[in-house]
Amino acid sequence: MPEHNYTRVSLFSGERIPLEMHKARMVQRVYLRHVKERQAVLAASGNNTFLLPNRDVFLDMLTDSGVNAMSEAQYAAMLLADDSYAGSETFYRLERTVQSFFGTKYFLPAHQGRACENILASAYVTPGSWVVTNYHFTTTKAHVTRLGGQIFEAIGDGASETVSTDPFKGNYDLARLESFVKERGVENIAFVRIEAGTNLIGGQPVSLGNMRDVSSFCRAKGLKLVFDASLLADNLYFIKTREASCEKRELSDIVSEMASLMDVIYFSGRKLGCARGGGIALSDEADYRKLRDFVPLFEGFLTYGGMSVREMEAMNVGIQETLDIDTISQTPIFVEALGVELQAQGVPVVTPFGGLGCHVDAARFVPHVPQEQYQAGALAAAIYLVGGVRGMERGTLSEQRNPDGSERLSSMELVRLAVPKRVFSLSQMKFVADRVGWLYRHRDLIGGLEFEDEPATLRFFLGLLRPVGDWQERLVEAFLKDMPSGL
Ligand code: F0G
Repeated sequence: MPEHNYTRVSLFSGERIPLEMHKARMVQRVYLRHVKERQAVLAASGNNTFLLPNRDVFLDMLTDSGVNAMSEAQYAAMLLADDSYAGSETFYRLERTVQSFFGTKYFLPAHQGRACENILASAYVTPGSWVVTNYHFTTTKAHVTRLGGQIFEAIGDGASETVSTDPFKGNYDLARLESFVKERGVENIAFVRIEAGTNLIGGQPVSLGNMRDVSSFCRAKGLKLVFDASLLADNLYFIKTREASCEKRELSDIVSEMASLMDVIYFSGRKLGCARGGGIALSDEADYRKLRDFVPLFEGFLTYGGMSVREMEAMNVGIQETLDIDTISQTPIFVEALGVELQAQGVPVVTPFGGLGCHVDAARFVPHVPQEQYQAGALAAAIYLVGGVRGMERGTLSEQRNPDGSERLSSMELVRLAVPKRVFSLSQMKFVADRVGWLYRHRDLIGGLEFEDEPATLRFFLGLLRPVGDWQERLVEAFLKDMPSGL
């Protein structure tokens, strides 16, 4: 077993720093553009950070999806891939790893996480049925509603409080789950879903204890329990470091117990396993046969499921590396380091710090911007302007409109500054904190956004927006006064 350093190292001065337990031996050149260039790029990209070209982005903090740094062992494994349509040795290697990692009997490959959601929704969701979840994810909800299903969130009230000391804000509120099931009837519930590292509320974990409770309720009622393990690595780190009863347990032991509580497990291999792909793991034969039939239809043959064999080899190694605490600690400790620097400048951030990224609370950052003018979208645009940093809006823009066309105002307005695993340096995090801190001091200059072109579904991906008024000109002017280099 490797030596675990994650909690033991601190500087002699007492300062805690997120020490990297890896070294970089391959790097990518990045460019910091002049603020005037960034202004032009932002306008050409419809004020939507999803549409910014990477060449004009200094630090890409959009997501941790498919952009984590891979290990040398992952790259080496890619060379050994067995490229065949059927019966690939690569697939069998990945299958064995998934089976032993989760302790499940069957593995179905899919090209990414939402492809698994498409299969699960196609198999279980019927018009009018419900999917109960701790909190929705955008793609999950889109697949459920596409098939006429509805989402009910049974997360605790504290989940949307951005300032909190609750170590497991992703937990289910059991009473809420129970009363919903009683009210709607077991027969109207397609499945119950637990999302690890609950994405949209700030990468907040679910405790193992809560998973146990939800599982025993579902088993007693005969409800199918589906686990979204995409953000398992972060959640596992938090269980190990925040849940007292798990402090001394092996990570593999925690994962086995977690998996034994679930009926169906799926994941985005763009996150879990740090490659690009996905899959479904389960043990029930009837469920397996039902889900299996969708794989050749939507994804590809059963031994590749739309994935390249090279990615499957990388994922195989990446999943095994999830059991190394010094590997999975890297994102959470960098998120914390960035969060602490931001807090020191008064910037409102989601606490406790979660996995995935640091989440800036746009509702408290720009309370003067009306929510209908997309507070978090406007802040994400402003952060790109002042720092060349690409974050992601996670608020009202990421919601779908109500059937009557009115806005569904999100309970949270967040800008996520994702921290992909092992990608950024501490000085880069300091730069982000400095530019966002400057922006906070000039927050009154930030205004709202409005749609120019609004797609009907998942509008945040491709929508084009424009600033309401000339606030971006005034922000750039103020920036140039303080930062004459324009960088
Ligand atoms: N579930 C969770 C919890 C996710 O975070 C994601 C993706 C998915 C499912 C869908 O997986 O992208 O492989 O199809 N999250 C990305 C993000 C998009 O940026 O947070 P996918």
